Amino acid sequence: MLAPGEFRINPSILAADFGDLAGEVAKVAPVTDWLHVDVMDGHFVPNLTIGPPVVASLRRHSEAFFDCHLMVTDPGDLLEGFAAAGADLVTVHVEVGHTTKILGAIRAEGLRVGLALNPDTPFSAAEPFLEAVDLLLLMTVFPGFGAQSFIADVVPKIEMARAAIERRGLAVSIEVDGGIDTTTAATTAAAGARVFVAGSTVFGSPRPAAVVEALRDSVARVLAGASPGASPTGSR
Ligand code: DX5
Ligand code: ZN
Repeated sequence: MLAPGEFRINPSILAADFGDLAGEVAKVAPVTDWLHVDVMDGHFVPNLTIGPPVVASLRRHSEAFFDCHLMVTDPGDLLEGFAAAGADLVTVHVEVGHTTKILGAIRAEGLRVGLALNPDTPFSAAEPFLEAVDLLLLMTVFPGFGAQSFIADVVPKIEMARAAIERRGLAVSIEVDGGIDTTTAATTAAAGARVFVAGSTVFGSPRPAAVVEALRDSVARVLAGASPGASPTGSR
């Protein structure tokens, strides 16, 4: 979905002040044009967040690309509502099943299509659907809550996905979500990720825009050829 060499830092509003979402979104608008919206149904994950009405309200305050991550058991019922609310991309989890039908329904709403895998779901579960998606979300924590620790075991799966996408000549962007900071953004960038969701790192900071810029610098250094652990001035 992104052009070769492009990447995006994608702030997750899950960690923002829900009482002032417009104000929070305005803090990162100058530094990134994506926004990650975590939708939880209290069933697929043991947490309950937001739905189309909140997305519709946010749309009036933001021109960002809304990346809606549906952690829900029945995504089909919600797709029309998210499209009408102003979502740009909807991602569903492969674990909920009926994947071919749901991905087709997302596309039919005129939305970009994403498919998510939990940390313990093998890449093979996504392989049959690669041609049908714009984005592959490889969760680096178990979904449900922000501020969890990055699961490093997912890194080989990112490399495997990148290799398969390249082999097939597809333009699928790999997204990572959970425990992303400047260090793990660099590690996952080196493995092939190009969309980096960051919640608590960004909105837990008093200066969210500065954090987005630090994440961007960290990824840019890796893509420019530095090894993930290298300092900005390089090693001597
Ligand atoms: C987890 C959500 C994430 C969450 C990430 O279920 O899908 O998007 O906001 O939060 P951090 O960046 O704090 O790990
Ligand atoms: Zn998410």
